Parts: sequence; structure tokens; C-alpha cells
Amino acid sequence: MAYLKPQRPEKVTVPVLRETKRRGERLVCLTAYDYPTARIADEAGTDIILVGDSIGNVVLGYENTLPVSVDEMVAATRAARRGVQRALLVADMPYGSYHAGADDAVRAALRLMKEGGAEAVKLEGGKVRAAIVGRLVAEEIPVMGHVGLTPQSIHKLGGNRRQGKTAEAARAVIEDALALEAAGAFSIVLELIPREIAQMVTDAVKVPTIGIGAGAGCDAQIMVFHDLLGLSFGKPLRHVRQYADLRAAATDAITRYAEDVRAGTFPNETESFALPPDVAEEIEKGVRGQGSEVS
Ligand code: KIV
Repeated sequence: MAYLKPQRPEKVTVPVLRETKRRGERLVCLTAYDYPTARIADEAGTDIILVGDSIGNVVLGYENTLPVSVDEMVAATRAARRGVQRALLVADMPYGSYHAGADDAVRAALRLMKEGGAEAVKLEGGKVRAAIVGRLVAEEIPVMGHVGLTPQSIHKLGGNRRQGKTAEAARAVIEDALALEAAGAFSIVLELIPREIAQMVTDAVKVPTIGIGAGAGCDAQIMVFHDLLGLSFGKPLRHVRQYADLRAAATDAITRYAEDVRAGTFPNETESFALPPDVAEEIEKGVRGQGSEVS
């Protein structure tokens, strides 16, 4: 683990997270979907790496997260696993993998852990998922909850819209979070809800809250890797802070590479290698000899 930052060398595990909240330490979470993104996130000191089903939008080119399959999540989680040493690795349960019953949910979660190497799973929904969360936890599967905007409900919600805007809706978000905590979730993602409600939830539960578009009062923040680095397409969302423009950097690099190839300036002599002189001489003699035979 030579690359780990000396000030935060300890492995992040599920049991330490409650303690982290008690101490008032903020946690850093980021999504990742393969070996390089996971390794970069881990090396930079991210505490929790989520192999999110946002892989559907940002990597696989789907319109939303609904088509993502368990096989796709297992493959992505396995790749991410190879890049992570310190962070807690959490895998998202894709749409359809926990909706048909608790046994299905257990089977899908076990695949993410046994085949993918995840240390925990995340699923979307509050009160309605409490029984499934309880069952997973009983089977030794740590669960991260997710309330507020739940992108797998895109058709029910009519889009990826802000949630918890009315008193009734805000109360429902708080009740959802409490139900997940009572069911045994070890942390809860709060997505796109008013910061006041996120603060109330954070104060009400003992497990860390992980905000995305939910204000600074949460115990942790999460961002989508590609949004943070400017690798996403489309208009950036209000809650996204883009720390780099890697898409522009990549486009520029590839354009210059194409120019060099077309101009014949790539590769140059230092980017290729020559035959050893004695071999060159031998080959040349052979070619000359063949030439005289032909003539
Ligand atoms: O899939 C995902 O990336 C997520 C985070 C945005 C929380 O669920």
C-alpha cells in the first residue's frame, strides 16, 4: 500500500463508519466503475468507493440506470476491486435485482460480494425496502440505503427531479431514512433533497448520511467520478462541482495525436526501434542474394 496517504492509512470498514460520525469527521465518497477509476479514487484518499448503477449513464451509454444488469455490476465491481486497497467498496444493486423478493435480493447481493468483491451493497428506497434491508443484513450483507431522489424510480417520479419539497414529502424522506436505520442500514445516501431536510435526517440518525445535492450538513458527500472530472456529456447538474475538464484535455490530446499520425511525425525514431546492425546486414545480404537468384 505504498501509495496510501500517510495521514489516512487505515482500511475503511463498515463498523468504523458509525464511530467516524460520532467523532464528527466528514467522509469522502466517489463512484468508480473499473480498475483505473477505482485506483485513482483510492490513491487520492477516497473513503467509500461506490460502483454505482450510474455506470448505465456515464459508462455504458444507456439513457438511464434501468437497463443495468447484475452481470454488468458484477463485472464492474470485480474490476474496481482490483484497484481498491483502502476504501470501503460498495456495489449498487441494479433495478430489478431486489424488487421481486428478498430471496432474489440476497442472491444478487451475494454475487456482488462473492464474485465482485464488494464489501457492502446499496439499494434504493425507504420504508418499502426496510424488510429487504433487514433480510440482507441478517445474511451478513452490509447495506447502504438511498432515499430522496431514487433514479431507479425515474418513470414513477416523471424524471430525475428534486424530492422532499412539500412538508408531506419532506416528512416522508425523514421517515424513510429512519426506517432504513431501524432495518440495519449502515449508511444512507440522501439525493437531491433540500439541505434543511438532509440536516434533520443527519441529526436524527446515528449512521452516516451521504449527500448528493443535499447540502453540506450531511456526514459525507458523494459525486459521480465522471461529473467531478468533466467526463460527462450534457449540461452539468446544479449540485455538481467540476474539478477538472478531462473531456477537453482528452479531445485535445487525441486531436494532436491524429495530426501527428497524418503528418507522419508519429512515431519518431525514439518511439520505434531499429534492427541491430549485424542483423540488418545479414538480412540485406539475404535479400540481395534472393534478388540475384531471381534475375
Ligand atoms: O449510482 C450512483 O452513482 C449513485 C450515487 C449518485 C449515489 O447512486
